[in-house]
Amino acid sequence: MAEQHGKPAGHTLEAYLASHGVSRRSFLQYCTAVAATLGLPLGMAEKVAAAVGGDNRPSVLWLHFQECTGDTEALLRASRPTAAEVILDYLSVDYHETLMAAAGHQVEAVRNATMAKGGYIAVVEGAIPTGRDGAYCCIGGHSALDIAREVCGNAAATICVGTCSAYGGIQAAYPNPTGAVGVGELLPHIPLINLPGCPLNTSNLTATIVHYLTFGSLPRMDAHKRPLFAYGKRIHDNCERRGHFDAGQYTETWGDEGHRQGWCLYKMGCKGPATFHNCPTVRYNDGLGWPVAQGHGCVGCSEPQFWDSMGPIYERLPNVPGFGVETSATKVGLGLVAAAAAGVAVHGVAKTLQLRFSREDEES
Ligand code: SF4
Ligand code: F3S
Repeated sequence: MAEQHGKPAGHTLEAYLASHGVSRRSFLQYCTAVAATLGLPLGMAEKVAAAVGGDNRPSVLWLHFQECTGDTEALLRASRPTAAEVILDYLSVDYHETLMAAAGHQVEAVRNATMAKGGYIAVVEGAIPTGRDGAYCCIGGHSALDIAREVCGNAAATICVGTCSAYGGIQAAYPNPTGAVGVGELLPHIPLINLPGCPLNTSNLTATIVHYLTFGSLPRMDAHKRPLFAYGKRIHDNCERRGHFDAGQYTETWGDEGHRQGWCLYKMGCKGPATFHNCPTVRYNDGLGWPVAQGHGCVGCSEPQFWDSMGPIYERLPNVPGFGVETSATKVGLGLVAAAAAGVAVHGVAKTLQLRFSREDEES
């Protein structure tokens, strides 16, 4: 992405992939995988490949507000270029404060010119402080509040990367001294999608953009404006430690035998049963790991206001059906009765949680 301005005009995606050591075969494999990730019917991979490789690259304006730049870091962490990363690189990212070499009035002019053309995608990293008329975060003499209104308000689509731009993140945690909000709260009626997580999983950003390029629209979302392909299932549903949860095998203290054996982290405060994200399947760091695989419970970072609603981090969730079901025959029976009464399978989470996190699908 850093070399965006050096790309020759008319450079095809195929040539661009080749120049980065990504073969056509790898690209097609990626298109097949992303089509599957997006839940598209078999045979759609070719349409995806044609759309991504076409000459319809939208301009991207990437904005930074109240944040730690962790999402940009996630974007840059790949140890080797994959088709996904090269596709992101291939996009015409006209404005990105962390990555662009130019500065000052020059880049402000680029941003304004892109906006004047229209049809661009705004990617937002960071929360927007609304207190004191936006004075807590200013860039180039303008408040984040005004920049978000202008850039996102006129974008073809806005993609909020990371939990801060989606829901305010830690800046919005009680007592929220700067009045931080996510973009969707500030601008509830713009075309917008949230890709929360701390940090964003870049694979989900690429898949969202691929969907946009292929269909000209954002993917189907849940009530929190998260794409269903990435946030449609609980962490707990796909967790590699799930067998231990069902078997009543729990880590009781950090470093105990259960922890060393990779047993379930529910008792250590894991919020996986109440968190919707595809971390166990997509994973981070080139697919090498994700929090639970590394031995720490999920803290629920992709849920709205998780700093206030999911804590304390190391206290376990209220009772979850299936918790310890195999520790005794009595508990197995009680668990089954409770599950039947709740109308859910014994593998399901507590009815209270189910109600709390029940979602309405929205067609984008
Ligand atoms: Fe995995 Fe956490 Fe569920 Fe245990 S409670 S199975 S560690 S998601
Ligand atoms: Fe966040 Fe939990 Fe995934 S902490 S990164 S949603 S495992």
